[in-house]
Amino acid sequence: MSIPAIIAIDGPAASGKSTLGQRLANALGYLYFDTGVMYRAVTWAALQRGVAIGDEKAITELAESLEIDVYPPSQNDGRAYDVLADGQDITWEIRRADVDANVSPVSAYAGVRKLLTAQQRRIGLRGKVVMVGRDIGTVVLPEADLKIYLDASVEERARRRYEELCQRGQPAEYQKILDAMRQRDQIDSTRQVAPLCAAPDAIIVDSDHVNADQILEKVRALVDQHTS
Ligand code: CDP
Repeated sequence: MSIPAIIAIDGPAASGKSTLGQRLANALGYLYFDTGVMYRAVTWAALQRGVAIGDEKAITELAESLEIDVYPPSQNDGRAYDVLADGQDITWEIRRADVDANVSPVSAYAGVRKLLTAQQRRIGLRGKVVMVGRDIGTVVLPEADLKIYLDASVEERARRRYEELCQRGQPAEYQKILDAMRQRDQIDSTRQVAPLCAAPDAIIVDSDHVNADQILEKVRALVDQHTS
């Protein structure tokens, strides 16, 4: 068997998907694609333009008209890639707390998902890709050669997000982050279209009490098993 050409990594917020995805893609010389940035870009644009988050039709129209691009990093400020919306660099803007708070309702809209899923699928089918999200193994690329579902307790994930924000010098309160994360988990896993869940053929990896190096090692072993 050859190295898996399409690797899907799904899981809840702050379970370590981005770190694992980036490092695995680097190690294999694959494209790393974080689908969450697309949902975040639509949410950011809605907040910026004053489009009501509850207005499904207006949000879907916005998603249709918004040009989202992801490029290799143009700056050495800790970013893994540049995210552009209609040509504007929004790489850090999409990490704002108000985007975090509103991204799950936006992602639950069927029209928004249909549009973004089609773009993600087109990119993924080119192969040599590590694609990260909530529904990659179930909906976007069900034919992925290797599917990982990365999980961790909500307390551990909130702690990680808290530390990330502190490191970036942004205001952070653990309890608020924990509450917001619980709410996002609830919306993501109960929505009608493409809810967050592990594909039946996904390998579930628990990242509680395990550091990023150990997770990478574990997943690299799974890639090797698949290859041999
Ligand atoms: O970085 P974090 O894990 O907090 O979130 P993200 O991966 O950037 O995704 C942000 C939000 O976008 C999620 O809470 C989901 O609501 C949505 N999302 C989705 O619905 N489907 C995806 N494939 C990726 C993200």
